Amino acid sequence: MGLTKTKPILLDLPDRFESERMVIRAPQWGDGAAVNAAVAESMESLRPWMPWAHHLPTVDETEADLRQARLLYLERKDLRLLLVHKETEQIVGSSGLHRIDWPARRFEIGYWVRSSYEKQGYITEAVHAITDFAIRELQANRVEIRCDARNTRSASVAERAGFTLEGILRSETVNPGGSLRDTMVFAKVRGFEYDQA
Ligand SMILES: CC(C)(COP(=O)(O)OP(=O)(O)OC[C@H]1O[C@@H](n2cnc3c(N)ncnc32)[C@H](O)[C@@H]1OP(=O)(O)O)[C@@H](O)C(=O)NCCC(=O)NCCS
Repeated sequence: MGLTKTKPILLDLPDRFESERMVIRAPQWGDGAAVNAAVAESMESLRPWMPWAHHLPTVDETEADLRQARLLYLERKDLRLLLVHKETEQIVGSSGLHRIDWPARRFEIGYWVRSSYEKQGYITEAVHAITDFAIRELQANRVEIRCDARNTRSASVAERAGFTLEGILRSETVNPGGSLRDTMVFAKVRGFEYDQA
């Protein structure tokens, strides 16, 4: 049945899958402390780019945020995905499929990495696995990555994962510091970066 006519809440979706080194899964009740520790460790890297990282949340605030994210996952309104290391069982970072347009089957991947796991290819690995999930399970027609044009580390992830830079939207929004920013738009599109099958 085409997704265009299917209510998203009726979609049967797994809430976990795996990449080589990680379990990639929807948040669960009780993840708050582990995710909060990952955020606490990474605040300096997150603050310039993530609007929510202006101050370290309490564990209860993180727990509440993750419970809300789980509810949204179950409603298929927004698909937050935690990255959990298979061996250490630590939170490697967070990602997900956001700004969903179900009729068009368009999704945007977001991500951040825990500082002690950066520069080891975990986010590129997660982006590959999440893109495959979107194509296979959600029949995605278009998967986007958007980032501040000055965020070279994020743009490198998109390029390494095989996304095409489609353009740079000038003065598209504001950064966490309140200044206008240009936004790079990368995408993989059915029939272009991946096949119909
Ligand atoms: C953007 C962000 C997630 C990128 O993290 P990252 O660690 O550079 O990305 P990856 O996990 O894919 O690792 C890639 C790096 O590991 C290296 N690497 C090591 N082993 C690797 C492997 N097996 N596969 C791929 N890359 C590997 C790559 O060479 C690359 O390093 P380089 O950039 O020095 O060449 C991180 O900088 C971050 O969290 N920033 C703050 C939040 C943010 O900006 N989010 C994006 C908002 S749009």
